[in-house]
Amino acid sequence: MHYARNASSLEGSATLLYTAKAASMKAAGADVISLTAGQPDFPTPKAAIEAAKKAMDEGKTLYTPSMGIVELRQAVAEKWSEVHGQNYKIANAMVSCGAKHSIANMLEVVVSPGDKVLLPKPFWVSYPQMVRRLGGISIYPESNGMLITGDDVRKAAAAGAKGMIFNSPCNPSGLVNTVDMVKDIASAIRETGIWVISDDIYEDLYYGSGRVPHILTADPGLRDQVALITGVSKTYAMTGWRIGFAIANPDWIRIAGRIQAHSTSNPCSISQYAALAVVTGLAEEERVHMYNAFKRRRDLVCDLLEEVPGLAFEKPEGAFYVYPKILTDKEINTEEFCISLLEKGGLGTIPGSAFGNEGYIRLSFAASDDDIAEAVKRLNSFLERGDFR
Ligand SMILES: Cc1ncc(COP(=O)(O)O)c(C=O)c1O
Repeated sequence: MHYARNASSLEGSATLLYTAKAASMKAAGADVISLTAGQPDFPTPKAAIEAAKKAMDEGKTLYTPSMGIVELRQAVAEKWSEVHGQNYKIANAMVSCGAKHSIANMLEVVVSPGDKVLLPKPFWVSYPQMVRRLGGISIYPESNGMLITGDDVRKAAAAGAKGMIFNSPCNPSGLVNTVDMVKDIASAIRETGIWVISDDIYEDLYYGSGRVPHILTADPGLRDQVALITGVSKTYAMTGWRIGFAIANPDWIRIAGRIQAHSTSNPCSISQYAALAVVTGLAEEERVHMYNAFKRRRDLVCDLLEEVPGLAFEKPEGAFYVYPKILTDKEINTEEFCISLLEKGGLGTIPGSAFGNEGYIRLSFAASDDDIAEAVKRLNSFLERGDFR
């Protein structure tokens, strides 16, 4: 049997793999704490559940327009117009089956085989595979920093990059580009004319003051070149409902809409009504409660990690991940480290190799205080024992 080159060269998702391994050990009775999860450990807000029930009772269970119900597209256009000081209309907004699907659709519109795409490093696991699926070529910043810079964009464009994916707050590091960095990146985008997919899925989990620095705030005139990706998964604990949003210029959206029409049709009708409830502000209490919990846990995990010798990390300013580097004079294989930490140390984490960095591990603090405290204890004793050397 002959399988297509792009499809058969795809790699699986390491985050899902390590999450599943920790879960199956736990299910088999092993004493495992898993800090692998990329999702809130809270229930979906009541307003979303109620709206979904109402949609079912009212028979809103058939196909919807493929780009999403008009009310939701309108609500998305309005909300993110307010966030970014723009005047987006329905034609600028499209609903898909999760932000991952939104990114895949939007990439498919702009990446032709052989096109180079600049990805940040560390990158979210799916970006390189999504680019590969389309026959594109991922390239990475020349500088070695943990956050992409304007010069990285200029150099990549000079090397032929047609576009880039930007992700701040970043999964896996939780780091955020500062206002000045974002201004410089926006200037580089304007100078080079590249397209940008700004993956803003963690925009509401920013622990600094005000809104997270954004390319469109730095230069609102870039709106036709910049597609925004966001959704309800992380902000409202709705990962399983599979609703994501793309906001971009009408042509980009129209073509992505055709791709969606010929692949998945519409996102789940019931989930769209649930999403409409939260986007229109009916779950603000729960949102703020979850935000405050993550912020507090961020401080807790950082305070505890500070006491662990053999680690270096930068305090995350967003999302729910911390990304320490293992300090050792020997080169370590991070996948082996994480397997050993799981099997011998009873702690599930994700190896940095999945995000483009050897020597780092990602810990999710979407977990209880007790689990966080016990996890850091286990990591400390594992490092002390030196089992991984
Ligand atoms: C950086 C980033 N972008 C996009 C997504 C996808 O979100 P969704 O669950 O809405 O597809 C995730 C989920 O882990 C993510 O971490």
